[in-house]
Amino acid sequence: MTDLPAPSSSPGWSADGANLVVHADNAAFLATLPDESFTLVYVDPPFNTGRVQRRQQMRTNRAEAGAGDRVGFKGLSYSTVKGTLASYDDAFEDYWDFLFPRLVEAWRLLSDDGTLYLHLDYREVHYAKVMLDALFGRESFLNEIIWAYDYGARARRKWPTKHDNILVYVKNPATYHFDSAEVDREPYMAPGLVTAEKAERGKLPTDVWWHTIVSPTGKEKTGYPTQKPEGLLRRIVAASSREGDWVLDFFAGSGTLGAVSGKLGRRFVCVDSNPQAVAVMRARLAPWL
Ligand SMILES: C[S@@+](CC[C@H](N)C(=O)[O-])C[C@H]1O[C@@H](n2cnc3c(N)ncnc32)[C@H](O)[C@@H]1O
Repeated sequence: MTDLPAPSSSPGWSADGANLVVHADNAAFLATLPDESFTLVYVDPPFNTGRVQRRQQMRTNRAEAGAGDRVGFKGLSYSTVKGTLASYDDAFEDYWDFLFPRLVEAWRLLSDDGTLYLHLDYREVHYAKVMLDALFGRESFLNEIIWAYDYGARARRKWPTKHDNILVYVKNPATYHFDSAEVDREPYMAPGLVTAEKAERGKLPTDVWWHTIVSPTGKEKTGYPTQKPEGLLRRIVAASSREGDWVLDFFAGSGTLGAVSGKLGRRFVCVDSNPQAVAVMRARLAPWL
């Protein structure tokens, strides 16, 4: 990023200060924030980090007949398979180089009762799960939330992919904050199987959330292309933070986390390197800035 303000000229954050929208490369800005300042970090990073993804074809790694250590299925040797895996690793390495240092910062910035929500899709989630297991520890893995939606064209040659994945990790599995009583409830699928009172009250959501995308004609729509629905973020903020807590989104886009946090009485910091995103956020989040 060339025309970004240096982090020192970004508005400074303080625990008793105002909510912030920050125009900066998140790597530079996050380094200015003190340890353990946030109860909740939600991020929805781009997969395309601007680098060329180097995916080699398997044939470039094919061992000469008899040269591999073993010959198996389709006559391919184990070294062929290993070489192919290494070529996929190039994509993993690029993703790792971009995301890992920022996730390390997320870990540092989370309070002892804090939670990270990392919003991805099927292309990235398996890489990121391995990354976060290494960083937070497997015992800190809380959930993988599946956000299922039903919109757009349907592939005919495979199962149409209509879900995102949100990985949830806590800083400390013994002390993390989670309040399911604050979460909106859902209708039972078979209300006839439960008492009338239970049916009336609805059920707690599971780790599979059916929710429409941001409607192209709805009032939530900001025009920012990757905007996520407030309904998803409302659940996350309600369950994993309290009123007055600080929450952070450092790939903030249109500022959905900020909007929900403002409405629910949380304090927020939203960071984005794209000037269009910052303009959208300044307008959307004006009531709370
Ligand atoms: C998928 S969008 C986030 C959308 C957001 N969740 C919403 O509801 O609108 C990812 C955002 O990350 C921003 N971004 C990418 N690289 C960044 C970086 N190094 N520092 C700060 N923001 C970055 C992009 O400009 C983009 O707005």
